[in-house]
Amino acid sequence: MSKVTVVGAGNVGATVANVLAHKDIVKEVVLVDIVGDLARGKALDSWQQAPIDHYSTSLKGTSDYKDTANSDIVVITAGIPRKPGMSRDDLISTNANIVTSVVKSIMEHSKNPIIIVVSNPLDVMTYAALKASGLDRTRVFGMAGILDTARYRAFLATELNVSPKDIQALLMGGHGDTMVPLPRYTTVAGIPVTELIDGDKLNAIVERTKVGGGELVKLMGTSAWYAPGAAAAQMVEAIVKDENRIFPVCAQLTGEYKLNNVFVGVPVKLSKKGIEQIIELNLNNDEMGLLHASAEHVREVMEVFDKM
Ligand code: NAI
Ligand code: 2OP
Repeated sequence: MSKVTVVGAGNVGATVANVLAHKDIVKEVVLVDIVGDLARGKALDSWQQAPIDHYSTSLKGTSDYKDTANSDIVVITAGIPRKPGMSRDDLISTNANIVTSVVKSIMEHSKNPIIIVVSNPLDVMTYAALKASGLDRTRVFGMAGILDTARYRAFLATELNVSPKDIQALLMGGHGDTMVPLPRYTTVAGIPVTELIDGDKLNAIVERTKVGGGELVKLMGTSAWYAPGAAAAQMVEAIVKDENRIFPVCAQLTGEYKLNNVFVGVPVKLSKKGIEQIIELNLNNDEMGLLHASAEHVREVMEVFDKM
């Protein structure tokens, strides 16, 4: 049984910890926040839910990294979220410092953890975390693709009036408005989605997905947490259970998809080793063009980080 640390006890971090506890698949979740009492309070609240919802995973809140010692998996959600009118990229100067210092503190107490980054701008924060950790690229990656694909799947489920359970889909690229939903890889109970929906409606859903995060920021004044938290917890589950599940994950590419040293969402196989394999699809020219344009945007923000 594993030890999982979640850094950042805000909306997303507390949700990751709570969803993970409900899965009852790890021995201990440590919730860390610079505001120690917030982490202690949310961990205690989640622990007091255990007798009601029947789980044994223990939860501890702290601001002391000694409590994170020997973590198997670390989820990083520390940082500021978007406010209305902000893009994810606007968060870089604040969050780059936070993510770098968090990763350094983690590495002082855990030798070879798997790190899942959630903080935004996601692709560049994954780069920052990989750099600060000194770990292999198979052990440091980012959560965005499961969330973005879930939004796309949810919109399709509503439009088609079918269960979201039956919608399988894939989305690639950076976690921003340049993300690339892939209708050619979208099926409803095995039926190609294009047989069930007309082109204009599908295009509208693709466009709504690309700005899906912003839609929620407008509604709530801050960014989402239920689906993001559940998505990160699903990645932890795949690793803990050594499931070899295939998810879109932000990874460092070293030649895959003809892209080098850039961080974007691609389909990967997740196991107890982290990224077991990056799956290379036969994208057509249009899809490849969109993926490269998205990667180019991430690269520009990576350069901003490099100059900081
Ligand atoms: P939040 O403001 O609710 O929580 C952030 C927490 O981080 C706060 O409790 C704060 O005290 C803590 N924190 C700040 N500096 C810290 C440090 N140095 N060490 C430890 N804790 C620190 O924000 P929320 O909504 O939880 O979002 C967190 C991050 O996740 C944001 O950057 C947001 O943009 C990102 N996000 C990413 C998504 C994705 O798909 N990758 C989806 C949703 C949010
Ligand atoms: C989201 O997509 C803002 O990245 C955050 O909800």
